[in-house]
Amino acid sequence: MKAAVAASLLCKTYLTEDAKVEVFKDLSFKIGKGKFAVLSGPSGSGKTTLLNIISGIDKPTSGKIVVFGEDLSIKDEDFLANFRCFNIGFVFQSYNLVSTLTVAENVAFPMEWIQKQENYMTNRIEKLLEVVGLQHRADHFPFQLSGGEQQRVAFARALANDPHLFLADEPTGNLDAKTSLKIVQILQKLKTEEKTVIVATHDEQIFRLADQKLCLEDGKLVNLNE
Ligand SMILES: Nc1ncnc2c1ncn2[C@@H]1O[C@H](COP(=O)(O)OP(=O)(O)OP(=O)(O)O)[C@@H](O)[C@H]1O
Ligand SMILES: [Mg+2]
Repeated sequence: MKAAVAASLLCKTYLTEDAKVEVFKDLSFKIGKGKFAVLSGPSGSGKTTLLNIISGIDKPTSGKIVVFGEDLSIKDEDFLANFRCFNIGFVFQSYNLVSTLTVAENVAFPMEWIQKQENYMTNRIEKLLEVVGLQHRADHFPFQLSGGEQQRVAFARALANDPHLFLADEPTGNLDAKTSLKIVQILQKLKTEEKTVIVATHDEQIFRLADQKLCLEDGKLVNLNE
């Protein structure tokens, strides 16, 4: 199996002033190129922490995280920002839209980073907003949108640069059935396009798409396929 993501002996411990939180220890796993992986586990088990480390947003305390052949644990911020922009789409659990930018500007953001042409961006924004059903909201600001709408803008932004690796953190957690279905359809499309997808979720509909099922519990990763 060709790995898109390979972790070896990954550990993460948060040190706060008065406590030490050991989130996970010695995680070793691989996610194959073009595979759809789901990550489950109770609240606080480290799903978001692990996605942050896979995307290079956060560093492991020790261990190695290799994504498309690059060891992200030893790279500097400039490399990581660029690497993310070209290779990774991330839908955060809390959306993380830029509050001072409109919907269209939020979606443009990753494309501006890699200096796409203005015309290309305009067309692409229109297409992406159509995919998530928010064409009519292009000029609105995040605070004018519902949680589910912000979630969908986050999807459009994460898809902007057509990433090889797509990460989503509980993407249907706050959505009604109809909007969830839209998100599941987008994920399904990424699967047919053979993108590598990792979704932290407990959603049964998303589980059905999974080639690999991983579960975080008590600081360990259990491979549910075995
Ligand atoms: N910056 C931080 N400083 C200290 N502890 C942290 C920090 N970030 C996360 N933690 C702790 O690490 C653990 C894992 O958090 P994480 O957000 O990864 O869990 P999760 O599985 O995504 O939970 P949820 O399902 O609620 O989203 C939690 O106990 C959390 O309190
Ligand atoms: Mg989380």
